[in-house]
Amino acid sequence: MVVPTSSEPTFGLLGLPLAAAAERCALRKVKVAVVGFGYVGSCIGAVLAHKGFLVHGIEVDPRIVAAVRAGRAPVEEPGLSELIADVVLEERLTIGSDLSAVSGCEVVLVTVGTPLGPDHGPDLGAVIAVAKALAPHLRKGHLVILKSTVVPKTTTEVVVPLLQHGSGLRQGVDFGVAFCPERFEEGNALRQLRNLPVVVGATSPQVGATVAAFWESAGLTTMRVASPTAAELVKLADNLWIDLNIALANELALLAAPLGVDALEVIAAANTLPKGQHAVNIMTPGAGVGGSCLTKDPYFVHQLGRTLGMELRLPLAGRAANEAMPAVMATLAAEVAQAIGKAPGSCAALLLGISFKPDTDDIRGTTALPLAEALGARGFAVLCHDPCIRSGRRPALPTGAAWVDDLLESVRGGPVLVLHTAHGVYRSQVAALLTALPRPGGVVDGRFVFDPQAVASAGHHFRGIGRPPLVPRP
Ligand SMILES: NC(=O)c1ccc[n+]([C@@H]2O[C@H](COP(=O)([O-])OP(=O)(O)OC[C@H]3O[C@@H](n4cnc5c(N)ncnc54)[C@H](O)[C@@H]3O)[C@@H](O)[C@H]2O)c1
Repeated sequence: MVVPTSSEPTFGLLGLPLAAAAERCALRKVKVAVVGFGYVGSCIGAVLAHKGFLVHGIEVDPRIVAAVRAGRAPVEEPGLSELIADVVLEERLTIGSDLSAVSGCEVVLVTVGTPLGPDHGPDLGAVIAVAKALAPHLRKGHLVILKSTVVPKTTTEVVVPLLQHGSGLRQGVDFGVAFCPERFEEGNALRQLRNLPVVVGATSPQVGATVAAFWESAGLTTMRVASPTAAELVKLADNLWIDLNIALANELALLAAPLGVDALEVIAAANTLPKGQHAVNIMTPGAGVGGSCLTKDPYFVHQLGRTLGMELRLPLAGRAANEAMPAVMATLAAEVAQAIGKAPGSCAALLLGISFKPDTDDIRGTTALPLAEALGARGFAVLCHDPCIRSGRRPALPTGAAWVDDLLESVRGGPVLVLHTAHGVYRSQVAALLTALPRPGGVVDGRFVFDPQAVASAGHHFRGIGRPPLVPRP
């Protein structure tokens, strides 16, 4: 039990001796505000509430407020609906749209969106709006933790001045600010929020220690870096690495098919080489890289270089390699159509999977839409299927493309299947899909879902990213 001494603040964590701050967190005597209750905010808010914190979400979108109040998840993420239903019922998670509620919350997490701006830097409009609106409600002892992805120096040169100016309080003395990048991947968010180390870059060592104590009380390990700027760059470094790594895998895949080798086999063998402290770790090639972060963060890095007076080469090279994959898929579809004796202009291509990753309905940055466009440009009549995207949430398709609902019925229409997203529904029905497809059909696999030999044995032509073509086996 913490009994504040007369010199200790009665509100907040900053200013308390570290052990007392840690104990308050451990005893769940701090309330956490999460400003921006979209994908990141709702996942973090639910996990922290499940860990016993009282969490209050603050969100401007009335649909999200209504959904969460009704105990429903605002986004499709495995396990999130159940978690939100539980913590709302137990009154550990509440939500509203009034930012003044932060004055009762010792820790304020900011998780608003930072989309790609017109100059390829982040659009900081929401971050700036929140910092301005938050400032008048700041109290001595508050910790403000920015988690939205931003370019380095945003915390110290944009957020901190706005908070100080609007509150009349001094950062580092009256309130603390840190940047802790969010690094989970969609589809795996809840597990990663319980396991990933939290990077903490704070404006002073004392703020850093207090912020670390908060995360550690939630059972997480922390990795402290010297400043918010370093933590901001960590986030961009992670996503640039992923995008470049997949670009490498994709270009290896382009080489593998004409050489008659399997890119996955090559990559698995290449990855056995120990290098540095780890091993070579080339990721999996595929039909494209999507998502809200990987498609924008390399541009943020490129733009950052420009603002510092340099022209970085890698971020745009990686983006170009990955953004070329829908066109590669469309070329494979045209090849497979030709192999079955059809001109693309006289046949349909059934595009399987529109969301950017398996088993979610998130279409942000999905490469399925450019793929649908590239297939249409080749002359295919494009039919789109996605079992995870409910009809009310379907994105607009390129001109000429149409949605279909019945998977097997659509496959029976043939003749070309183009798999973009490895939804479980497709993985579990590979044999049925190959049986339903009229012979000889064509299968283009962008995600290593089909066994090429099984496709050939079923009487169809096969093309796939990183795999040699196969003709039907007699
Ligand atoms: N989605 C991911 O997988 C992921 C992963 C890591 C990091 N990030 C980063 O985290 C940030 C948030 O991403 P997201 O995917 O959750 O975005 P999102 O668009 O799903 O959620 C942002 C939410 O903030 C709300 N908002 C905007 N202005 C507000 C205001 N003034 N007050 C209250 N709410 C406000 C929006 O209505 C929206 O619901 C971004 O910077 C993103 O790059 C996202």
